Amino acid sequence: MRNVDGLKVALLGLGSMNVAILKGLIKAGIQPENVIGTTMSALSATLTSRELGIRVLANEQQSGANRLAVDGVDLAIVGVLPPYVAGICTEISQDLPCHALVVSVAAGVSIGALESALRPGQPVVRTMPNTPLAVGSGSVGLTAGPHVDDDDVDLLRNLFSPGGRVHVIAESQMDEFNAMAGSAPGYLYYLAEHMTEAGIGLGFDQKTAARLTADTLLGAAKILANEVADNPSAAGDLRREMVLPGGTTRAAFLTFDERGMGEAIPAGMQSSAEQSAAISREIAEAD
Ligand SMILES: NC(=O)c1ccc[n+]([C@@H]2O[C@H](COP(=O)([O-])OP(=O)(O)OC[C@H]3O[C@@H](n4cnc5c(N)ncnc54)[C@H](OP(=O)(O)O)[C@@H]3O)[C@@H](O)[C@H]2O)c1
Repeated sequence: MRNVDGLKVALLGLGSMNVAILKGLIKAGIQPENVIGTTMSALSATLTSRELGIRVLANEQQSGANRLAVDGVDLAIVGVLPPYVAGICTEISQDLPCHALVVSVAAGVSIGALESALRPGQPVVRTMPNTPLAVGSGSVGLTAGPHVDDDDVDLLRNLFSPGGRVHVIAESQMDEFNAMAGSAPGYLYYLAEHMTEAGIGLGFDQKTAARLTADTLLGAAKILANEVADNPSAAGDLRREMVLPGGTTRAAFLTFDERGMGEAIPAGMQSSAEQSAAISREIAEAD
C-alpha cells in the first residue's frame, strides 16, 4: 500500500486543473517539498511556484524539465491539453520509476493511448476532474487501467477526498462524465453571467448584481447539497416549493419554459458529451 506520507508527486502542467488538484493534495497531507511541477513558460513557473509554494521547472528554460520532474516520483499527474498528453508520456517514459502511478486528467485521451506512450506495465489511471476540487466541492470520474491495483485506487480516493468526491466509472462513461461534471462549472458561470447582466438591467450596479448572484448560487447550492444526500429528487422538490400560484418565481418559470430553457440545458450537455467523444476520435486518429 502506498503511503501519503512522503509520497513524491510530479504535476506536469500547472493550469487551472492541476492547480485545483494540488490544493486538494496539500489538504490530503502531501508535503509541498515532495511536489514538483512543470510548465511551458518561465513566467508561469515563477508565478505558480510563488503562489503554490512548490518547486516548478519551465520547459522553455530547462530542456527535459518533465523528465527531471518525474525522477524518483510515486505519482505523476499529467495536466496538459489533450493533444500534448501522449507526447509528454513518451518523453517521460524512460525516466519514470516502474512503480509510479500515472494519472491523466485530460479529456479524450484513452487508457490505451496512455499505455502505448509509456513503458509496458506502467500503472495508468484516467480521470475527469473539475475545478471545484480547489474549494473542496469537486468531482472526479476515475477509470483504472489493467496494471492498477485496489490499493492504488484507495490511495487516489484518499488524495482526492479533501477536494471532492471520487466516482469510479467505466471508461465508456468518460464523455458523459465530462458533460455532467468536468465542463459543468462553466454552465453555472454562464447562468451567473446572465443573472448579473439581468440584475444590471433591473437597475443594480455591477458589483451589487455580481454579489447577489454569487451569494444566491452559493446559498442555493448549499441547501441542495444538504437535501440531495437523502433525496435525489431534491432539485425539483425545492424548485416546486418556491412556485406559488400567482407568485413571482412562477412568473419567471413561465418565461423560462416559454423560451425553451428546459430543453436547451440537456441539449447543451449532449453537445458537450459529443464534443468530448469527437476529441477522443481526433486524438486516436492522430496517434
Ligand atoms: N480546466 C478544466 O475545467 C478542466 C476540467 C477537466 C479536465 N481538464 C483537463 O485538464 C487538462 C489541462 O487543462 P487546463 O484547463 O488546466 O489547461 P491550461 O490552463 O491551458 O494549462 C495547461 C498547462 O500545461 C502547461 N504546459 C504546456 N505544455 C507543456 C509541456 N510540454 N510540459 C509541461 N507543461 C506544459 C502550461 O504551461 P504555461 O502556463 O507555461 O503555458 C499550463 O501550465 C486538459 O487536458 C483538460 O482536458 C480541465
